[in-house]
Amino acid sequence: MSTTASAPALYGGTSTRRVTVRDIARAKERGERWPMLTAYDALTARVFDEAGIPVLLVGDSAAMVVYGHESTVPVTVDDLLPLTAAVARSTKRALVVADLPFGSYQGSVEQALASAGRFMKEGGAQAVKLEGGHRVAPQVESLVAAGIPVMGHLGLTPQSVNALGGYRVQGRGEAGAALLSDAKELERAGAFSVVLECVPSDLAQDITEQLTIPTIGIGAGPHTDAQVLVWQDMAGLSPRVAKFVKTYANLAESLSEAATGFAEEVVGGTFPDEAHSYS
Ligand code: KIV
Repeated sequence: MSTTASAPALYGGTSTRRVTVRDIARAKERGERWPMLTAYDALTARVFDEAGIPVLLVGDSAAMVVYGHESTVPVTVDDLLPLTAAVARSTKRALVVADLPFGSYQGSVEQALASAGRFMKEGGAQAVKLEGGHRVAPQVESLVAAGIPVMGHLGLTPQSVNALGGYRVQGRGEAGAALLSDAKELERAGAFSVVLECVPSDLAQDITEQLTIPTIGIGAGPHTDAQVLVWQDMAGLSPRVAKFVKTYANLAESLSEAATGFAEEVVGGTFPDEAHSYS
């Protein structure tokens, strides 16, 4: 009788130990698709963890959805560290990936090691994410050699919004070959996965088929190994969303109704009633 148990599924698996980069590699070998969400605080991270989301990204999108900036550029390591620590502390199973913010890794390998080291030691993350292809390959190699798993990010890389001239689809036409080459370079440098943001579906499919590491799509069509969304977009809290976002709830409406209900009862003198008071 065989003693080898089949590997648990990434989503919907029963294991309570943390998901590892090895589990993620195996999911690609099995052709299993999986979901990833962003998380920035203890309570929502816990909900997503208990819902079985196997990978949670403390994205630098916190710049907009937490800190109210117009882009991801202003957010710092010190801004993101406490959010990462909150997500790591309140989850048991999800692999927590910390985004390295703009200006915290592009300068040198030493800078990347120092920033990523803080996210692993002080933030409790199990991996980091950074943006770019060939130009950050030395950073990826050094981080991986130091024992820090790295998730890449290609296509629309929001930290480069000023150089890209806005938030637009990347990799159309001849630019597709450069994107594929960047993806292969990240794989060669040791990245365990790569986010593809806002790229044509057929290019994302081609990259997904040519890489042995999983691709994680956001605005990259249905053929990537995984899909990621910013949770406030997915749950209907963000006031404006991109074409690629599907909303699965209307939290803005629910929260507005709750706030109005509370306010009206306070003004009308019906809250707090006896049931919500101490004798
Ligand atoms: O910061 C972020 O939320 C991200 C995802 C959208 C991939 O990078």
